Parts: sequence; C-alpha cells; structure tokens
Amino acid sequence: MQPFSQFDGNGRLRHLITLEGLDGDLLRELLDRSQHYVARPTDLANHGRELAGFTVANLFAEPSTRTRASFELAAIRLGADVINLDLMLSSRLKDESMLDTIYTLEEMQVDLFAIRDSKPGVLQYVAEHAEQQVSIVSAGEAHLSHPTQGLLDALTIHQYKGGFRDLVVAVVGDIRHSRVARSAWRALTTLGVGEFRLVGPDELMPAPEEFPGATRFDSLEEGIDHADVVMMLRIQNERMEQARVPDADRYFERYGLTPERLKRARPEAIVMHPGPMNRGVEIASEIADGPQSVIRRQVANGVAVRTAVLSHLAEARRKRS
Ligand code: CP
Repeated sequence: MQPFSQFDGNGRLRHLITLEGLDGDLLRELLDRSQHYVARPTDLANHGRELAGFTVANLFAEPSTRTRASFELAAIRLGADVINLDLMLSSRLKDESMLDTIYTLEEMQVDLFAIRDSKPGVLQYVAEHAEQQVSIVSAGEAHLSHPTQGLLDALTIHQYKGGFRDLVVAVVGDIRHSRVARSAWRALTTLGVGEFRLVGPDELMPAPEEFPGATRFDSLEEGIDHADVVMMLRIQNERMEQARVPDADRYFERYGLTPERLKRARPEAIVMHPGPMNRGVEIASEIADGPQSVIRRQVANGVAVRTAVLSHLAEARRKRS
C-alpha cells in the first residue's frame, strides 16, 4: 500500500485531514480564496455554482454548532446537494462501522464528506478506503486536528493584524486536549508567526515534544504580556476523566480572562475563542462581548474558509477528471 497522502498524483489537494504538509503558498492560496468569499455579499443572487452537480455529506459523531452549520451553508451556497447525518442518531449506533457508512453513502453518489469524529486516525482510514473521486475533509478529529478552524483563525488574525511575522500569539487554557490549538500552531508557524505561546496549568499542557518552538507559561499574566493575539480555549471536559476536570471557579480565578488581566496584552490586542465558550470559566462576559473580541468575526470567517476549501477541492477534482 502507498503511504497516505492528502495530495493526488499531480500534487493537488484531494483530502484535507490535517494542515501538516501544506506549505505556506498553499495556506496563503486558501486564505486568499477565503477572503474572496468573505468579501462577497451572501445574497442569493451572488451564490456560486462551483459545486453544482456535487453532493456533500456532513457526518458528525460529536456535537457541533459552528463547524456543522458552516459546512452546510458553504456547500449550499456553492450549489451542492447536501446531506447532514447526525452519526449519534445514525446506524453507527447499531454498530455499523464508519467505513460501511461511507460505502453506503458512496453508493448514493456522495462526492465529498466533512467528518467529525472522536477517534484519532478514523479520517485517514476512511480516506485510504474511499473511492478514487471522493474527498474527505476533517471537521475536527479527536484532540489532533481541526484544519478549517486553523485556517479561519489565521484568516481572522490576518484581517486584523495584516500579517504574521512580528506577532506574539498566546493560546491559553486546555491545550493538551485541543485540536484547535494544534491546528492554529501548525497554520501560524507555517505562515511565519513571530512567537507562539502556550499558557495554562501543567495538567492541561501538551507533552514536551509537542508544539516545537512554542514558549510555555503557567502564569496567565506572564503568558499574555505584550501579546498581539490572545486565544482562549474551553476546558474539554469530555476528553478527561471526571476526577481530573478542574473546578470551574478556581480555574477562573487563575486563568479566566478578565478586563484587568487583558491590560497585560498590547492595547490593540485581539481576543479570540473558537467556541463554544464557557463564560465565567475561561473568559469573562465583558471580554467575550467587548471591543477587543473578534469571536463573532471568527464565526463569519468559518463559513468563508469552508466555502474556500470545498471550492478548492472541487476545482482539483475537475482537473483530475
Ligand atoms: N469551533 C468549533 O469547532 O465549534 P463547534 O464545535 O460548534 O463546531
């Protein structure tokens, strides 16, 4: 068997399971394409037809609001037929394997699958077994990877800061269990970010060999000092044993982002959060809804990025056939 690659024989992207292996040129191309979709009004007359004749299936085995809705909107706005299958309610509950679900939907002429799953490795396994013309896009894989989130975070930073090179980006919270942090690190380091900081308590830090080049802090105040971007993360209770889940009030006392603490960052710093947010645990409401918050812009950019990724994959497929 050939080693797995997300690229086809001509070097075009066929799947998007991770940002690993995507170089700066390809990331910038995807960001430029995303910006094009941000700039376009979303009224019906301006919907594209880039996915006309394609069928997209959204398969989610974990809860989602933003990612699922934005993949669906992106596919509809590009003219695709769309199926949304909640795997928590599908025949997966009757022990049908993910692969049998894919084979079933391939018979219904699905071309592109956006999949969220809690098991590491499932997406690559599916991609290795999918039919030649089919593309697999990650909508979030365990703690490992959330590539479209990494792209939308990079897009948001670029919109507010105009580049990456001189920026200090501080990611705060449960980094150990965060696919968002891993994909942000991958995207931003490939794009040449100045400094990438990890901030959180020891028990929520990733293994020492992960995030090479990142600087680590257990003090929130020191970790966000003079930062240009502060990215807050939710505690992923669902990926921890119950006994290890931190007490919410005590966590907020040490790691909650408050107006007072945010003064340590640069005055023009932006505050990001991938959502869902736990107000009063990792972030105060005054910050989440305040002037430095770009959290809602991240949501809007999520639609643009997923539109760009789907159209990029469809274009690559047309060139293959
Ligand atoms: N950021 C993110 O993945 O949000 P959802 O879980 O709502 O999709």
